Amino acid sequence: MEIQVPVGLPSVSIPADNPITADQVALGRRLYYDPNLSVDGTVACASCHQPDAGFGDPDQFSAGVGGQRGGRQAPTVLNAAYFNEQFWDGRSPSLEHQAEGPVQAGVEMANTLQAVEEYLSKEASYVEQFDKVYGPGPITYEKVAKAIGNFERTVIAGNSPFDRWYYGKDDAAVEDAVKRGFEIFKDPKKGNCEVCHSMQENTAIFTDNKYHNLGVGVDDEGNLTDMGRYVVTKQDGDQGAFKTPTLRNVALNAPYMHDGSLKTLKEVVDFYIGAGNSNDYRDKDLLELDHLTRKDRDDLESFLHALTGEIPPNTDAPSGD
Ligand code: HEC
Ligand code: HEC
Repeated sequence: MEIQVPVGLPSVSIPADNPITADQVALGRRLYYDPNLSVDGTVACASCHQPDAGFGDPDQFSAGVGGQRGGRQAPTVLNAAYFNEQFWDGRSPSLEHQAEGPVQAGVEMANTLQAVEEYLSKEASYVEQFDKVYGPGPITYEKVAKAIGNFERTVIAGNSPFDRWYYGKDDAAVEDAVKRGFEIFKDPKKGNCEVCHSMQENTAIFTDNKYHNLGVGVDDEGNLTDMGRYVVTKQDGDQGAFKTPTLRNVALNAPYMHDGSLKTLKEVVDFYIGAGNSNDYRDKDLLELDHLTRKDRDDLESFLHALTGEIPPNTDAPSGD
C-alpha cells in the first residue's frame, strides 16, 4: 500500500520488517481506539491522543487508568511518523517500540503485554483480522505494535494554508501577516526559530529531531524539575533538554511544552521573547527577542496558525465494531 503524502510533507519511510498493507492499517486503527487494551477497559491510545484535539490532549497531564496522571504533556501523534525518536526525551527508537510503553505504564494503561495478547486471542473478530494480516498463528504484542505503528504512519497532516502558499505557490492561500511571520520565523536576526524548528528543501516537519534546553519547568531557584534527555544519554549537556516538537498543527495542540505549562501560542511567543528561562544548561541559540514589536509577535503567531493541515480520512474511531 502507498501512503498518500500531502503537500509539504516528505514521503513516509516504512521499516523493512513491517511491510504496510491496508488491512494492517485498519487493524492498527481498531487497536488504537480500543480501551480494552488497558487493565480495566477504560483507557485507549486515543484517550490521550485524541483525534478531536489534533491527536494530542487538551489536559496538561493526561488521565490514565483510575484518573492517575504523569508529569509530561501528551505530544501529538500527527506526523510522529517523521520523528527519528519518540517521546519528549527520545527514549524510544521507533513507533513500534513506543507502542509497548503506554500499555504497561502504571499511570497510563496499567496492563501487561501478555494480558493484551490474551484479550485479543479470545475475540473471534480480532483473531480473524490478525490472521488476515499476518497469516495464521498466535497473536503476539509484536504484531499489535506493528499494526499500531503503521496506522500511526497514516496519521499525517500537511496541505496547510502555509503549504499551499509556500510549496504550492498559491499566493492567496495565506494573509500577509503569515508571510511576514514566516520571515521573522526564519531570520536569524529576528525570531531565529528555524534553527531548531528546521525546514528541508521542499518539505518541512519544523523539527531538527534534536534536544534543547529552553528552561521550561525550572523552579524559582533555577533548578531543573525534569532532567529530560539527560536520563537517556547521561551527557551533562543534555540536562533539561527536550525534543524539538513539530510546529505542524500546533494551533490544535494546546497546552504547550513538555510540561504543558504554557496555555496559548501567545504565551509561547512571549516566553521566547525573554529567551526562555535562565538555567545552567540553556541552549545558546535562544536569543533575547526584545526587538520584536507587538506586530511582529502577532505575525509570528499568525504564521503558527497557518500550519494547521488537513487530517486524513479514516484516522478517527472506526465505526461498527
Ligand atoms: C494516559 C495517557 C496516554 C495514553 C493512554 C497513551 N499515551 Fe502516548 N503519550 C502520552 C504522554 C504523556 C507522552 C509523552 C511521554 C514522554 O515523553 O515521556 C506520550 C507519547 C507518545 C508518543 C511520542 C510522540 C512524540 O512526539 O515523541 C507516541 C507516538 C504515542 N504516545 C503513542 C501512543 C500509543 C500508540 C498509545 C496506545 C498504545 C498511547 N500513546 C497511549 C500519553 C498517553
Ligand atoms: C534552541 C532551539 C529552539 C529555538 C531557537 C526555538 N525553539 Fe521552539 N521549541 C524547542 C524545544 C526543544 C521545545 C520544547 C521545549 C520543552 O518542552 O522543554 C520547543 C517548543 C515550542 C513550541 C511548543 C510546541 C508544543 O507542541 O508544545 C512552540 C509553539 C515553539 N517552540 C515555537 C517556537 C518559535 C515561534 C520560535 C522562535 C521565536 C522557537 N520555537 C524557537 C526548540 C527551539
